[in-house]
Amino acid sequence: MMIPTPHIEVKDKNTIAKTVIMPGDPLRAKFIAEKFLENPVLFNSVRNMYGYTGTYKGKRISVMGSGMGMASIGIYSYELFKFYDVENIIRVGSCGAYTDELNLYDVILVDEAYSESTFAKCQSGYESDIIEPSEKLNEQLRTAAKNLKIEIKEGRIHSSDVFYRENFEVFKEINKKYGCMAVEMESFALFANAKSTGKNAACLLTVSDSLVTHEATSSEERQLSFTKMMEIALEMAE
Ligand code: HPA
Repeated sequence: MMIPTPHIEVKDKNTIAKTVIMPGDPLRAKFIAEKFLENPVLFNSVRNMYGYTGTYKGKRISVMGSGMGMASIGIYSYELFKFYDVENIIRVGSCGAYTDELNLYDVILVDEAYSESTFAKCQSGYESDIIEPSEKLNEQLRTAAKNLKIEIKEGRIHSSDVFYRENFEVFKEINKKYGCMAVEMESFALFANAKSTGKNAACLLTVSDSLVTHEATSSEERQLSFTKMMEIALEMAE
C-alpha cells in the first residue's frame, strides 16, 4: 500500500505503466481501455478521472484522463511523473484549426507548443513562451504513423488558457505572429512538467473544429473517429 497523492489513489505504484496515454476526457480513457487494451484494470477514480492499465500487443500501457486546461493536466501529469515513476506521457486530444489548410479529423503531431500562459514560469522559472516535446517520442510516433499508413501533419500549436474569448478574431493574430496551426489547452503545461522533471512528453491532436470555416464535429463523431491518433500512440508505446 502506498501513500496516495492528492489526485491519484492507487494501491501499488507498479499499477501504472511507464507510458501513459492521456486523453482530456476520462470517459475517452475508459473507451480506449475497453476498446484497445487486454485485461484493463482501473487504477484511479478520484474525481472520476479514470485511469486504466492493460496490455496492448503484449506491452503494458496505461491510459488516464487529464481533464481540460493547463491547470488540470499540470496536476495529473506532475503526479504521474514525480510520484508514480511514469517516464512517458502521450497526450491524445482535440484541437481547433487556425488555418484552412487543416481539415476536420486531420491528425497533428505537435512539434512546438506556444502559450501566453505563465504556467512554465510559475512551475519552474522557464522563461520562453515556446516549449518542445520529446524528440525521441516524436520520432517513435512518426515511425508508428508510417507503419500504420496514417498521414500526420506536424507543426506548432497554441496552448490557450481561454476557450471563450470576447475577441474571437484574436486567433488570426496568433496564427500569423507565432505560426500556430491550431489551438488546444494542455500541451504547454504537459511539456513544461516533462522538462522540469526530466521525463518525456508528446502530443497528438485530431482537428475537431475549425475557427476559420466554423465546421465542427459532434461528440459522438469524435468518440468514433479519434481512433487514428490512439492507434499511433498505442503502436509506439514501449
Ligand atoms: N479552442 C481551444 N481548445 C480546443 C478547441 C478550440 O477551439 N477545439 C478543441 N480544443
